[in-house]
Amino acid sequence: MYKMLKIRNFLGRSSQLRSFTSQSKPQLNEISLLGQNFARDDYTNITDKICSYLGMNIYLDQNHPLSLVRQRIVNYVYKTFTKSRGNPVFSVFDRLSPVVSTNQNFDSLLIPKDHPSRSKSDCYYVNRDYLLRAHMTAHQNELLRAGLNNFLMIGDVYRRDEIDRTHFPVFHQIDAVRLKTKDELFETKALSIFEEGANEAFTSDQGKQACHSLEAVKLMEYELKETLVGLAKTLFGDEIQYRWVDVYFPFTQPSWELEVHYDNNWMEILGCGIMQQRILSNAGVTEKIGWAFGLGLERIAMCLYQIPDIRLFWSKDTGFLNQFKTADINSKITYIPVSQYPQCKNDLSFWLPENGDFSSNDFYDIARSVGEDLVEQIELVDDFKHPKTGKRSHCYRITYRHMEKTLTQADVNLVHKKIEEAVKNVGAVVR
Ligand code: DAH
Repeated sequence: MYKMLKIRNFLGRSSQLRSFTSQSKPQLNEISLLGQNFARDDYTNITDKICSYLGMNIYLDQNHPLSLVRQRIVNYVYKTFTKSRGNPVFSVFDRLSPVVSTNQNFDSLLIPKDHPSRSKSDCYYVNRDYLLRAHMTAHQNELLRAGLNNFLMIGDVYRRDEIDRTHFPVFHQIDAVRLKTKDELFETKALSIFEEGANEAFTSDQGKQACHSLEAVKLMEYELKETLVGLAKTLFGDEIQYRWVDVYFPFTQPSWELEVHYDNNWMEILGCGIMQQRILSNAGVTEKIGWAFGLGLERIAMCLYQIPDIRLFWSKDTGFLNQFKTADINSKITYIPVSQYPQCKNDLSFWLPENGDFSSNDFYDIARSVGEDLVEQIELVDDFKHPKTGKRSHCYRITYRHMEKTLTQADVNLVHKKIEEAVKNVGAVVR
């Protein structure tokens, strides 16, 4: 689904360049993104199509499957880490602009200057200095600088990649950071986070950063892994099988991936690790150690709800979206594929039979029996009571769709007429 930014570690140099101009109307050689104008240059490779995804924020739409997964993960983190009076320790940032500098996306995370993940063929560059973020980790540095110790970063990320059932150039991630002081980590005063005199840039032979004490790293590793296994169980169930795999990220050391066994496959669901101390010190954070993780929402949602194709997340089709309308975000939902042929909608309004015993369910049954399999959805769009006569009328919006062909309006009218006749037969008066 998404390639992790797993890479060898060299030293990255930071560049803090500003190359966006004012908020005025874009000039010919400029691109306007979310209200800001950027100068084009030889690096510019974003397309109008990709720009059109900016600001869509489908992961924030109440009942979108990505939103359900987002809310479940946020709730889990809120519940797992609370202050003494029960309020959450973590802050959530889910509206950060996806336009970031190369410094944010790469340099601040120690990603080497010549690393392949920076290439024009992998990223959507606005110009030499700005790109659409390729991962949510791009915001780590700015939030550390702002003084935050426990936070989640949620949003859309952009990568140029193959396009198939599981790859799409826009997808969504949640990243987390948790910092701890010596006092928060240890009960014993004698222990310390740091190894005296060791260099932040080196790795010890135990696989940890040379500057960290082994006991600090082990306690952090324990909390991180406990947290993430707990999350996997919350999402996929207590019986889930999982395993930890050692990996490499430039921004964490040591680093791991969590794999869960699903549908006869080992599937990697997240990357995590102990944050590079140099990232913390570059951001002005001293005397603290941190863990971080990042995960992709699409992969989790596709497994949880058995959604077979990543493009479905962008569907505006109510045949897709309505399957995720639920009052309980934790309810088990299994996606049922809908036809790829277009929908056709017709409304039907009628006065209810005056004997008073007519319910919407009666109408649904009538429509289902008369309309057979062409009726995909029915929605009550108006319930009206006449102020003088007391008579009630209902208006239903019926969505028709054929599984094997495109329905014409004429086909639909025939069936719609039959439903109309059938409600007349139970005493309704069609308006
Ligand atoms: N940014 C990584 C990716 O997109 C995921 C990740 C790994 C995020 C480890 C982290 C982390 O914060 O600590 O593949």
